[in-house]
Amino acid sequence: MRTKITIVGAGNVGATAAHIAAAGNLADIVLLDIVEGLAEGKALDIAQAAPLQSFNCRIAGTTNWATTAESSIVVITSGLPRKPGMSRDDLLAKNVQIVKSVSEKIIQYCPQSIVIVVCNPLDAMTYTTAKVTGFAKSRVIGMAGALDAARFSYFLATEIGVSPEDVNCVLMGGHGDDMVPLPRFTSVSGTPLTELLSKAKIAQIVERTRKGGTEVVNLLGQSAYYAPAAGVAKMAEAVLKDNKITIPCCAYCNNEYNAGGYFIGVPVVLGKNGVEKIVELDLNKSEKALFEKSLGHVKELAAKVDKLL
Ligand code: NAI
Ligand code: 2OP
Repeated sequence: MRTKITIVGAGNVGATAAHIAAAGNLADIVLLDIVEGLAEGKALDIAQAAPLQSFNCRIAGTTNWATTAESSIVVITSGLPRKPGMSRDDLLAKNVQIVKSVSEKIIQYCPQSIVIVVCNPLDAMTYTTAKVTGFAKSRVIGMAGALDAARFSYFLATEIGVSPEDVNCVLMGGHGDDMVPLPRFTSVSGTPLTELLSKAKIAQIVERTRKGGTEVVNLLGQSAYYAPAAGVAKMAEAVLKDNKITIPCCAYCNNEYNAGGYFIGVPVVLGKNGVEKIVELDLNKSEKALFEKSLGHVKELAAKVDKLL
């Protein structure tokens, strides 16, 4: 049987992720939306790029969950995005209901899948998916750290004048303004970042990274999607090819970082089983304090989810 990825939500992130995954020939793709014609139209448009971009995976658009049956990976992008002036947390009440209904379909049609959650507020929606599906925690993973670390790498590379792929960034915490970029664990071709830039410059780039989503929303009038979709494709590829890359993801942490059973951004090893390992860094006192502050926020949102489910 051919390997299949389902992407739920054929909006900005979902359709862009479908295009990137197709162009990379990752697997056959099912794009699903509730709006009649939307996923069908976008899937057809993407498929027609195949001769130009030399890919040969199949791509189907649908409103029918039966088409998704037995997908190896399901990506949940079906959720309201924020507009200027909104925080990610403002989306919780609406998105928790959408993510709940999608999770129920996943149990029915793709019970063996690994689920990559994208909807915001990300850590709370990953928690929702795990709670509703009851899947093994290693099979429910949130995409945000990949994006936040990519933003951090891009800003640093531009400042230092190197290629973004030479910057190895580490970042933790929830996907919000209290995320925790970790300059002490970040390096550029092996040289610690702290030896390359002043403390003040690093602090400025850390702050820009934390507000990276808001910067794009304010420019575009809607939330980002090219880099988020690339984050999704990177994670899906790691799972499908069993790459075992280390990448920040929203993952279930219990004893790890003393998180006490919450989904939060941490460096993980991603492979065919989903989260195969959580990398435990030796954080210093101030890094731990920042992580705990972010964890406090993640816990508050999880408590709101518990009341809504
Ligand atoms: P969008 O509005 O362009 O697309 C969402 C799509 O989901 C729409 O086409 C809508 O019809 C569909 N949809 C809604 N309910 C559905 C259901 N029950 N079943 C199937 N499809 C359904 O939004 P966009 O920009 O693609 O963002 C999607 C979500 O991802 C938002 O919650 C946004 O905040 C989040 N996001 C998260 C990022 C991250 O780093 N984790 C980055 C970017 C966006
Ligand atoms: C972002 O950071 C919207 O969460 C999304 O761009």
